[in-house]
Amino acid sequence: MSQHILCLPGDGVGTEILREAVKVLDVVRERFQLAIEVTHGLVGGAAIDKEGTALSEATLKQACGADAVLFGAVGGPQWDHLPMDQRPEKGLLRLREGLVSFANLRPAILYPQLAQASSLKPEIVAGLDILIVRELTGGIYFGHPRGVKTLENGEREGFNTYVYSESEIRRIARVAFEAAQKRGGRLCSVDKSNVLEVTALWRDVVSEMARDYPDVELSHMYVDNAAMQLVRDPRQFDVIVTGNMFGDILSDCAAMLTGSIGMLPSASLNAEGKGLYEPVHGSAPDIAGQDKANPLAMILSLAMLLRYSLDEQAAADAIEKAVGGVLNQGLRTADIADDSGETVGTAAMGDAVAAALMT
Ligand code: IPM
Ligand code: MG
Repeated sequence: MSQHILCLPGDGVGTEILREAVKVLDVVRERFQLAIEVTHGLVGGAAIDKEGTALSEATLKQACGADAVLFGAVGGPQWDHLPMDQRPEKGLLRLREGLVSFANLRPAILYPQLAQASSLKPEIVAGLDILIVRELTGGIYFGHPRGVKTLENGEREGFNTYVYSESEIRRIARVAFEAAQKRGGRLCSVDKSNVLEVTALWRDVVSEMARDYPDVELSHMYVDNAAMQLVRDPRQFDVIVTGNMFGDILSDCAAMLTGSIGMLPSASLNAEGKGLYEPVHGSAPDIAGQDKANPLAMILSLAMLLRYSLDEQAAADAIEKAVGGVLNQGLRTADIADDSGETVGTAAMGDAVAAALMT
């Protein structure tokens, strides 16, 4: 029986980078004789323009029926005037919610070839290998009530709700503890428990769970300190677990340590291991359509998809190896350019990874 991947390229550079990932998928399909069926759908601004909504019911249904979803990026200035609940980003958020893909794994690994591209000194980032486990379907992103209301004095007031139930905290913490067991055995839970009750509960629940994982060394850190520590001494971290908004912010920060956000893949898994796979970066409207985007985060997201949802370890390993190979060859998109200043475009980078997989 063949497995089914739904591709949702979205907007901006999303379409360009996803095209390269599909190119790579075609090669591994052939090389490893994988029975994988690929279909395509619309999401974000592209879906707003053609289907009148950022994620149609039909697309959501297809996503829920698929074994995995490969997702590009959404958003762009042409849709920024829309009310919040009609914007392209809502398509992504509804997809995450509909798939219940609560566990967002964002590995930040420094490829040795890119040490020079990091914004930090090579000796601070050499060997960097952090896994950020971000809660993805709760917290302030989804809490109610939310909105903007007009007060009696005519002034507008905006409000959101930061809420986590114990069970939501437990299920994400479990993923993080288990990931730490398989890695370096250290877990740092990030919160703001000195100010926010919801994250004080987060700290309590995570601490209680530590008893079930005696082999994992648990620490806690306030989010402001965590942001500082990430740029001061990032290698102190093994696995970081945190809520939706803090994880959004800290993962962009961690991305930069690896040289470019264009290198960071992510997996968002539900309880059954089905998932949504997307690069950590966004739709980059400023460079969209110019063959400038780095497709490697998208291609590495495909590797995660093969590893976590399709259980095709050999194909996943081969893709990751091929990415290392093209970096060794000196190929660089503009975001990771080295001193030579020579760069290749999105399609040439995808071609190179595909070619490396054939050898
Ligand atoms: C991310 C992005 C999204 C988020 C946006 C596009 C909704 O920044 O995946 O990190 O905030 O989760
Ligand atoms: Mg983000």
